[in-house]
Amino acid sequence: MCGIVAYTGDGRAVPYLLDGLARLEYRGYDSAGVAVHSGAGIDVVRRTGKLAALESAAELDALGGTTGIGHTRWATHGKPCDANAHPHVDAARRIALVHNGIIENHHELRAELEAGGVEFGSDTDTEVVAQLIGHLMARDPDLRLADAVRTAAKRLDGAFALAVIAVDDPDLVVGARRAAPLVAGTSGAAGLLASDIPAILAETRDVVVLDDDQVVEVRGPDLVVTDIDGEVVEARRTHITWDLEAAEKGGYETFMLKEIHEQPRVLADTIGGRLDTDTGQLVLDELRTDEHGLKTVDKVFVVACGTSYHSGLVAKYAIEHWARIPVEIDVASEFRYRDPVLDAQTLVIGVSQSGETADTIAACRYAQELKAKVVAVTNVVDSTMAREADAVIYTHAGPEVSVAASKTFTCQIAALDLLALWLAQVRGTLYSSEVATLVDQMHRLPDQVAAVLADLTEVEAEAAVWKDAADAFYLGRGPAFPTALEGALKMKEISYLHAEAYPSGELKHGPLALIDDDVPVVSVVTASKVHAKTLSNVAEVAARGGRIVLVANPGTDFGGIEPDRVFEVPETHELFAPVVDSVVLQVLAYYVATARGCNVDKPRNLAKTVTVE
Ligand code: F6R
Repeated sequence: MCGIVAYTGDGRAVPYLLDGLARLEYRGYDSAGVAVHSGAGIDVVRRTGKLAALESAAELDALGGTTGIGHTRWATHGKPCDANAHPHVDAARRIALVHNGIIENHHELRAELEAGGVEFGSDTDTEVVAQLIGHLMARDPDLRLADAVRTAAKRLDGAFALAVIAVDDPDLVVGARRAAPLVAGTSGAAGLLASDIPAILAETRDVVVLDDDQVVEVRGPDLVVTDIDGEVVEARRTHITWDLEAAEKGGYETFMLKEIHEQPRVLADTIGGRLDTDTGQLVLDELRTDEHGLKTVDKVFVVACGTSYHSGLVAKYAIEHWARIPVEIDVASEFRYRDPVLDAQTLVIGVSQSGETADTIAACRYAQELKAKVVAVTNVVDSTMAREADAVIYTHAGPEVSVAASKTFTCQIAALDLLALWLAQVRGTLYSSEVATLVDQMHRLPDQVAAVLADLTEVEAEAAVWKDAADAFYLGRGPAFPTALEGALKMKEISYLHAEAYPSGELKHGPLALIDDDVPVVSVVTASKVHAKTLSNVAEVAARGGRIVLVANPGTDFGGIEPDRVFEVPETHELFAPVVDSVVLQVLAYYVATARGCNVDKPRNLAKTVTVE
């Protein structure tokens, strides 16, 4: 997730761009840059690091132009460095461009452009778009910028919001979008574009929200919106009534709620573009089979903390089931003190949203000392774990502001499921066609999560019942057990309600003594091979009078159990189900926390990144 902003008008562009970027910094903060039309050419200033590094760049003083674009980056392709920072220009510096999103066919387009003699200056998918537009304009000197953008957009697979300026049209900014947000607005003699409303809210409350495959030409206060074929379309106009703080949260009350609702989009980013349509193979470019010897590992350890540990548990089930490799999972703080048995044939998967958690870093370093191979699964490009690991798989969840993890958890599960399927493919424990069928099923997850989020009335009603509860239990079996663990952790950390999770069959070995009429018990009973057994465990609880809340697929026969509440979720493979099922439990925790008056985004005693052991 990155932030883009553009200005064209009668004022100096730089202050507007910097102000807009400051409002978008929550979308990414590993580098920032601006490009401004000087009248004679396009000047670009870029800096690695937070926006402050760009703001203090002396070169900005010389940029007096009145048309420009700006970007704050959350790296996806290529590490954070000045060369990979946006804006990007084409080889002839005809155009400059900023981009938010992921271009899935960037390899193919880069190869095609390189074969035509184009030389690239960065590792990014974005530069491919800049070079493509520049190349089209070089081939046809009469081609207008907007036409070149439309032609290029037709060649792109994936998600993009773009803002582009051209040397030969000093007052114009062209924007385009597909599956990434882009809004436009006007203020006096100026026109503005941005990824998100807060960036332009100081200038205007009347915004045009672009739809997929629309292109906008902004020339001062004139905005023309077209479809991808150049037909003028009616712009979708909205008047914004929220204040700035609310706008930064996208109209949601908290960052956590916003991040929960971002899940369909970020899951699509994490899962998308992994299936090679020519070969039918699952492609994880990040893992080069020969180099990392992953074909021959004979044991896997997963090391992680907290929520990341829970996604790691799903990975254990997935790797053992599909790739048939034994997997151990350790809370990272325990790993190196228990003298685990590992060697050069061992793969250690470190899972960490931040990539900076001290215990997980230490566990990965310990594994490398013992010659094991380390793959990091993290959300933060160039984090310590990403730098030190032998290979990295990034979750493309974008920055997570809320202390409690939500979107990064489901994206971790998606990335780990992909890793498990990839291991199965390279080791031959699944046929490619089986892998492709499963990846296809994964492609439905974003829509299934969106379906859950579309109707939360049952969850909200249940939260009202839980408001004054003292304890709650969460049950699940197989891959639904990590879902239960994560549901209980979310409840504890944001609502301060005591919640425990158990494998469903374990309750009768002790904790069942705690169940009475006042205790809510959530059981995850979505489709699985142990479905009938899980329902028998639910019946044991029902017989003791607990409040029975079920997470279940529509049409499930509960075999005589009369639940107090059912949260219906779409059915998927049981190893993907934690992605869909967890969402409903995140929302339950959220509503209970708000009903109890808790500060959801900043729970007491907790920090987002734990850099001490
Ligand atoms: C819970 C939560 C924590 C983190 C844990 C590990 O919502 O966010 O439990 O999961 O501190 O952090 P990372 O994933 O950054 O290593």
